[in-house]
Amino acid sequence: MKIISDIQDLRDQLRGQNRAAFVPTMGNLHEGHLSLMRLAKQHGDPVIASIFVNRLQFGPNEDFDKYPRTFEADVEKLEKEGVYVLFAPTEKDLYPEPQEYRVEPPQNLGKILEGEFRPGFFQGVCTVVLKLLSCVQPKVAVFGKKDYQQLMVIRQMCHQLAIPVDIIPAETIRAEDGLALSSRNGYLSSEERAEAVHLIQTLQQVQEKILQGRVTAAEILQIERDACAQLSSRGWQPDYISIRKRKDLLSASDSELQSDEKLVVLAAAKLGKTRLIDNLEI
Ligand code: PAF
Repeated sequence: MKIISDIQDLRDQLRGQNRAAFVPTMGNLHEGHLSLMRLAKQHGDPVIASIFVNRLQFGPNEDFDKYPRTFEADVEKLEKEGVYVLFAPTEKDLYPEPQEYRVEPPQNLGKILEGEFRPGFFQGVCTVVLKLLSCVQPKVAVFGKKDYQQLMVIRQMCHQLAIPVDIIPAETIRAEDGLALSSRNGYLSSEERAEAVHLIQTLQQVQEKILQGRVTAAEILQIERDACAQLSSRGWQPDYISIRKRKDLLSASDSELQSDEKLVVLAAAKLGKTRLIDNLEI
């Protein structure tokens, strides 16, 4: 595997490749990331991965400084997966001057859910993803459904800006007890790790309630409130548990609910100092 940090070197290395499959990451790779590499391999050749902890998508009080950086172990894992090039730019390589041009997602998608609780997050994600795509110029790029809203924001960005890349969604990989794999799980103490499974269990209960019969918009609000209260009673601080339409992540109206609109329940909640997110398609 070639490890490249300079944008021009990357372009030289990839010249003539028109079927490349790209997996951008922030490193600290786990089975979830490796599953993205394997999916990428099914959709293109060669597979290009990137590791870059993108300062632009972290808020001032978020975990940019303590975000786990495990470069050597990551390289070993990517080599085993047969990744052809690892693009691992430094901040100077990717942002040699202040990144003044940024991509601002539309309010109705970018300022809801994660966008409401993490102002600037999607602007930072879109800006770096657009820049990475422009460096790698892949045919396809793979993003996990664990970051459900991120996947949708990126897909819409590529569509509206006519970026010639197919965005491939990848299923969430979970630990045996159901907890979605995430680099941030590493922040949890052993007691918190045992408790963390209640996030997906709460989403499963929400799913069951919705599948029991037709629900109204008012009932959906009550289900969301009950789910938040349940997590709070266990010591969590929920930001949101929200049942939305899969197609645009807006709330469903009564008539949409009656016509079997496809739904997803999304959640973000803090356990101690660690903020976890998860979602379940209904
Ligand atoms: O999901 C992530 O790891 C990051 O948000 C991404 C897409 C690599 C952009 O920094």
